[in-house]
Amino acid sequence: MRNADKILNANGNYVIPGLIDSHVHFRDPGMEHKEDFLTGSKAAAAGGVTTVLDMPNTKPPCITVKALERKRQIAAKKSVVNYGFHFGATLDNLNELEEVDNIASVKVYMGSSTGDLLVDDDGALFEIFSKAKICTLHAESEPLIKHFTEKYHDYKVADVHCDIRTNMVAAEAVSRALTLAKYTGVKLYFAHTSTKDELDLLAGRRAFVEVTPHHLFLSEKDMSRLDNFGKMNPPLRSKKDMEALWNGIKVGAVHTIATDHAPHTIAEKQKDYWNAPSGVPGVETMLPLLLNEVNNGNLSLTKVVELTSINPAKIFGIKNKGFIKEGFDADLTIIDLNMVKRVNNDELFTKCKWSPFHGWKLQGWPVTTIVNGNVVFHDGEVNERYHGKEVQFKDVKEE
Ligand code: DOR
Ligand code: ZN
Repeated sequence: MRNADKILNANGNYVIPGLIDSHVHFRDPGMEHKEDFLTGSKAAAAGGVTTVLDMPNTKPPCITVKALERKRQIAAKKSVVNYGFHFGATLDNLNELEEVDNIASVKVYMGSSTGDLLVDDDGALFEIFSKAKICTLHAESEPLIKHFTEKYHDYKVADVHCDIRTNMVAAEAVSRALTLAKYTGVKLYFAHTSTKDELDLLAGRRAFVEVTPHHLFLSEKDMSRLDNFGKMNPPLRSKKDMEALWNGIKVGAVHTIATDHAPHTIAEKQKDYWNAPSGVPGVETMLPLLLNEVNNGNLSLTKVVELTSINPAKIFGIKNKGFIKEGFDADLTIIDLNMVKRVNNDELFTKCKWSPFHGWKLQGWPVTTIVNGNVVFHDGEVNERYHGKEVQFKDVKEE
């Protein structure tokens, strides 16, 4: 054990492993007007998140080894937290999947969303599953999305989103993915699982289940208030679905909570329904939302740590992270379970400067975030000069 250079007094607060957010869209390169790796990673640090896994729907998309190298350079220059990357699959980049190394997973969009990554062909899907060790799935059925988009084309109110991307749209894709995966060695990680139907299909299957804070804390009833600021893919669901997700957490059917942090500008969100992009920011608000539930007695702190640190580290095989243990990296978050504060758009570090949780009064906030032994966030300030590191993935993923 080395002597420390600096001693920090946690003042009676809890110290937990830094959060690993397995699902963020930091928009860099190509959409830096929404977010970039500096602003996104500052938001992460302020949210107690010490590692992010970034999604490939950037511009250009991260679907070639060359594009990944460029993202590595960007993150190395700008990120104040640790980072890793998901790599995008297309209908014809199997050769790139063979070449690429040190990725979290291969991300497959079975239904279209922000960007134009889409694998809407079962043959291609099967080949990707045959090649990849682990696939992160956006499981929504493209043919059904198209069908309902045409059916409701003259609707103008944002809550039509929930009628276009219905529970069936998700369930169809989940069951098809499970069928194809059964005949390959791939492990599936289902991003943003949002319905009871999906959980029923996934129960007892060899697959990992992620849920997002927005699907846990908001429902389709919030659409009238949020308008396009509540538009995301998959959409907000019924109260019954929300309860099923909370129950899934309780019984261990949910393996991770990740944010799907997907910032868009206020001006973009103020467009009419058909032209407003899908996605909400979340990397800064996940931990306080969950700690507030700890204070309400609905969730244990152990469960929060399991779902936001231990399990992401195990599922994606991230070396030396997820635990407070000798030999592991000092990625630590100090939380004050007594602090009461309102989420405030003006105080957010994300470039988009809005949150669907604006105004929510929450008890339990991160006060200090330590990345690789360095204080990066403390007392509301982020140390921009710190540079996080790319995480290393084990070749063979643990169960
Ligand atoms: O709502 C979403 N926004 N869902 C996605 O799948 C992508 C994301 C984005 O990148 O904007
Ligand atoms: Zn996403």
